[in-house]
Amino acid sequence: MEAIAILKTLNLTKKYSGFSTKGYYAVDNISFEINRGEVFGFLGRNGAGKTTTIKMICGLLIPTSGKAYINNIETINPLSRKKLGYLPEQPYFYEYLTPRETIDFYCKLKGINSRERKQEWLRLSELLDLKVIGDIRLKNFSKGMRQKIGFAIALVGNPDFLILDEPMSGLDPVGRKHIRELIHQQKELGKTIFFSSHVLSDVEQLCDRVGILSKGKLIAIGHIQEILQQDIQQVEVIIKDLDISQTASLQQKGILIRKWANYVHFRFENILTANQAVAECLQKGATVIEVTPQKETLEDYFMRMQIVEDNQRKKDDIYYSRVEE
Ligand SMILES: Nc1ncnc2c1ncn2[C@@H]1O[C@H](COP(=O)(O)OP(=O)(O)O)[C@@H](O)[C@H]1O
Ligand SMILES: [Mg+2]
Repeated sequence: MEAIAILKTLNLTKKYSGFSTKGYYAVDNISFEINRGEVFGFLGRNGAGKTTTIKMICGLLIPTSGKAYINNIETINPLSRKKLGYLPEQPYFYEYLTPRETIDFYCKLKGINSRERKQEWLRLSELLDLKVIGDIRLKNFSKGMRQKIGFAIALVGNPDFLILDEPMSGLDPVGRKHIRELIHQQKELGKTIFFSSHVLSDVEQLCDRVGILSKGKLIAIGHIQEILQQDIQQVEVIIKDLDISQTASLQQKGILIRKWANYVHFRFENILTANQAVAECLQKGATVIEVTPQKETLEDYFMRMQIVEDNQRKKDDIYYSRVEE
């Protein structure tokens, strides 16, 4: 796929002023690009600055400094939003409208004519499976259903770039799965999707690349596999029908974790030892059921970053307390 940037941010910064402090940076000098056709996950803990970044990209907040561009048009220019679909973190709905009327309303806002508005309802109600609830007022809907309507609103006019702020947040597992499927479906249709999340597993499953935001700073960006420590840390192996003497021999190489029925579960310190052990088992006629390398997950990454951050803070505290003395 051609790597053409659909979104570009250049030293994007938002500073908020506080009464008692000199102000602080909610978004601090971030620069990155998203390519056409990508699913990009924007990760960070609560308060990291995800929504502030998204609002600047959508033209809802003016940056303190720096710039953002969609399709090379600066986001302070409304034309940049012509092909943009946006799902806010807390979407607002007109409770007395039905999904059909809601879509019609947003179509009107986009200047879509009456015949095409009907077409748009047909397209979206099919795509998001909204037909049977088309004429029920929104006030009756669950959180999951509302999020689906929010998604449908973002898709009005068939934009080629979607920005979704925490689209899975607050949903139950079934609701999350629905939204994941919708994002996947949009990717298959060739759309570019930029979504924020603090839920790591959603991002791991969906994204081509991720950016990780911490206290307003972009601390990592790239393919998930590049960001995570790639060294295989340990290898878990499950073997069936291994005889007792062979089991004893493997205990020289690795740790026996569990034994049940005619299965044994071993852990080896590295891939080489695991390979030797597997070869030995196969030679003796045992069956290898599972070989699982243990790699770092995004969860581990966040914990690792948290430890780095805590240590830095401790160092800073020591430094500042020395200065005060
Ligand atoms: N209007 C505002 N005025 C002052 N501070 C704000 C405002 N909006 C957000 N913040 C602060 O900016 C930081 C980043 O917020 P936000 O972008 O909402 O983070 P996230 O979406 O990653 O949870 C937080 O510390 C938040 O309290
Ligand atoms: Mg947010």
